[in-house]
Amino acid sequence: MLRLLQLVRSCWMVAAAPATPRERVSLNAGWRFSRFTSNPDSLSYDKLKQWVLPSANDFISGTKRQPPSGTPPGTDVSYVKDSFDDSAWEQVNLPHDWAVKGPFNAPGIGGGMGRLPSNGVGWYRRKVTVASSDIEAGKSIFLDIDGAMSYAAVWLNGNLVGGWPYGYNSFRLDLTQYAKSGDNTLAIRVDNALDSSRWYPGAGLYRNIWLVKVDPTHVGQYGTYITTPSVSAQSATVDLVVEVENKRNGSRKVDVVTEIFAYDPASGKATGNVVATFPKSTITVAAGTKLSVNSSTTVLNPQLWGPAPSQKPNLYIAVTTLSSDGASAAIDVYETRFGIRTVVYDATKGVLVNGQRSYIQGTCNHHDLGSLGAAFNVRAAERQLQMLQEMGSNAIRTSHNPPAPEILDIADHLGMLVLDEIFDCWNTQKTKNDYHLIFPDWHEPDLRSFIRRDRNHPSVIAWSVGNEIGEQSSAAGGATTKELRDIARSEDPTRGVTVAMNSAGPNTQMASVVDIIGLNYQGEGLGTSTSGSFSSFRSKFPNKMIWSSESSSVLSTRGTYIFPVTSGNSATVGGASAGGNNSALQVSSYELYAPSWGSSPDKVFTAQDKNSYVAGEYVWTGWDYIGEPTPYDSARSSYFGIIDMAGFKKDRFYLYQSRWRPDLPSAHILPHWTWPDRVGQVTPVHVFSSASEAELFVNDKSQGRLKRGQYEYRFRWDNVTYQPGDLKVVTYKNGVEWATSTTRTVGDATKLNITSDTTIISGDTLAFVSVAVVDKNGDIVPRASNSVTFKIDGPGTIVSTDNGNPADMTAFPSTTRKVFSGLVLAIVRANAGASGEITVSASADGLTGAQVMLQTS
Ligand code: GAL
Repeated sequence: MLRLLQLVRSCWMVAAAPATPRERVSLNAGWRFSRFTSNPDSLSYDKLKQWVLPSANDFISGTKRQPPSGTPPGTDVSYVKDSFDDSAWEQVNLPHDWAVKGPFNAPGIGGGMGRLPSNGVGWYRRKVTVASSDIEAGKSIFLDIDGAMSYAAVWLNGNLVGGWPYGYNSFRLDLTQYAKSGDNTLAIRVDNALDSSRWYPGAGLYRNIWLVKVDPTHVGQYGTYITTPSVSAQSATVDLVVEVENKRNGSRKVDVVTEIFAYDPASGKATGNVVATFPKSTITVAAGTKLSVNSSTTVLNPQLWGPAPSQKPNLYIAVTTLSSDGASAAIDVYETRFGIRTVVYDATKGVLVNGQRSYIQGTCNHHDLGSLGAAFNVRAAERQLQMLQEMGSNAIRTSHNPPAPEILDIADHLGMLVLDEIFDCWNTQKTKNDYHLIFPDWHEPDLRSFIRRDRNHPSVIAWSVGNEIGEQSSAAGGATTKELRDIARSEDPTRGVTVAMNSAGPNTQMASVVDIIGLNYQGEGLGTSTSGSFSSFRSKFPNKMIWSSESSSVLSTRGTYIFPVTSGNSATVGGASAGGNNSALQVSSYELYAPSWGSSPDKVFTAQDKNSYVAGEYVWTGWDYIGEPTPYDSARSSYFGIIDMAGFKKDRFYLYQSRWRPDLPSAHILPHWTWPDRVGQVTPVHVFSSASEAELFVNDKSQGRLKRGQYEYRFRWDNVTYQPGDLKVVTYKNGVEWATSTTRTVGDATKLNITSDTTIISGDTLAFVSVAVVDKNGDIVPRASNSVTFKIDGPGTIVSTDNGNPADMTAFPSTTRKVFSGLVLAIVRANAGASGEITVSASADGLTGAQVMLQTS
């Protein structure tokens, strides 16, 4: 696992050879930060806009935007100046999300945005040292920001350099003209409005930031584009575009050579001999311009990239070397990791990768990483995807915004398909201050830069240009769909464009314009309705592939069971008789209760199976996320996740696993079997299993053997009378015993059990330390809610804690937290530069404590 992290980190770096003429260094350390809840500087996007718009010039097809003449706004603001004393400001390292530490119930922020203080103006400052040799060599110096929430504006040494308003997009600013040898003062302002989002946006410099130093004649930003137009087992054609940017005052003749190597997952580097070489091109790039060269080569016996586990995610690296004027040393070396694969959208068979059907077993996910908030961390993101893969998921949808770039690296490595999505709204607002305010000025550069950034990732199989767009059924919406589709096609003609449509019907212009029909909920039918729209889209567009871009939205809280249980296979959540507990703010985990538009997984599976041409689904959501706590707005986080926010699996995990990994013997029983208050009462038992038959026993007494019928996805015994003891299920497939499972009534809590997902941490890696309250036999006490305190000895820090309870308002950094349904999590980081042993201890009143040892180096 650590190895994968190292690979992911190295994959954006150029070759490690010391002579590399390109440097890309992290600017994450050593910032000073201050947040202001009222405007401290009288700046605003409106005032900055004319100076910020030109930052997008590389991504607009029309007339370039020019900054106005005169002094730019902010020049007189003290925070941009070298002379400003920021020593009283907070010291922070990036990625930094100022809101995640809380407290909850921040003024003006409702449940939708997660009740955390994300609003306000944030200023970040740090020194950036530039070597005199770089200045003397006339190097180009760029600032690459993977994402800043939001309306970022950047000053270097008091000069306004530019900015980028969309908080989820990555952007580059050219610092060269303002950089000097020695210390430079970099100041960044971000500005977050109230009512800017339907979910938790995070706040501040929440992703990685880089300084790139390169010869003024270099491969441009996102300057390579690799496609594989024809692929067979024997050979693959690989097409390459290299864009060379020349920032010198004079023109320059440049040789462009690109060689392909196999990618070695063990080292994260190119390995072995050259696999193929593109013909050398020699071009003359005029001063201050860019020029692209196209070339093509053949890779024999290609090792294809494909989704796991049925295929392998093999990767290659193309190493592009620029040299000039016969000089022996390269002036730039640029690496592009890519995969060789084909993707076909077949209207009947679904997604074909390398000719093999990949039924989409996907989930939608928001960008936050639970109690870490929006602050990006590779290991936390990797953990999310690995757990989804363990469930049998092969795809993610980056709902509803550009992800951190590393997410796509991880997906490439793990072999997961990605529906890469950019917008949640266009011109029509969903919340007062959302993206609609800047859509007219920014949709083109945002879309172009997003696609250029992501288009070399083999994991990305389609672009989604919108989710549940307000104007989806109107002519105006149709026209915008066409505009966005055409932009996407002009940047990447190899992938289809889709929009996630929840109400647009088959006769809308939007539906006719998109390449892939993406249906949110309407395919299977909203709520408990079973008359969905799959067949009407199918008859209108027999040649277009249809998938459920968003499905289910079933709700549950891990370990919570509410009685009675509906006899239907999908129900709308309500009070106690409809799966809800309105005072505890919890939803029953029988995995049957959804909001009015949603459905149980079982109902969705039925609709998918009855319409076998549907290419699969992206379930809302894989992981719980901060904000949108439907149906209980006063809570802090969602109930939609298959996995809770701490990373503990809900029962639903096993329902999806039983469908998506049919060959894995599985039998998961719910509910737990410790109900002193229910002796003699009807307590339905459901089992999620990949088997075809199952028999349930209560204290060895059979409750009946069930055969799974067509369109049935769970075994259910709805009339079981609760008696303490053993609940056992024995399952069968093809008449042969398949998997068994037993749940027993547990005794009083006696001690804590502690486990960590790793025993070694360093750098940015994290340990996810779980604690369970158990009885004397070591069984988890299912309704335990003891307060647990975590403590660290040694060079580590507890970053945050969580228990997956959407209604827990204890601030995330708290080292004391109640367990929820028996479990609680602490996230531990090693202190920078430290080495040695870290002991993480957990204690709770009246229980035997526990500790786990971690190593850091
Ligand atoms: C969808 C929407 C998602 C989320 C979900 C909750 O309509 O696209 O962003 O809000 O509902 O069920």
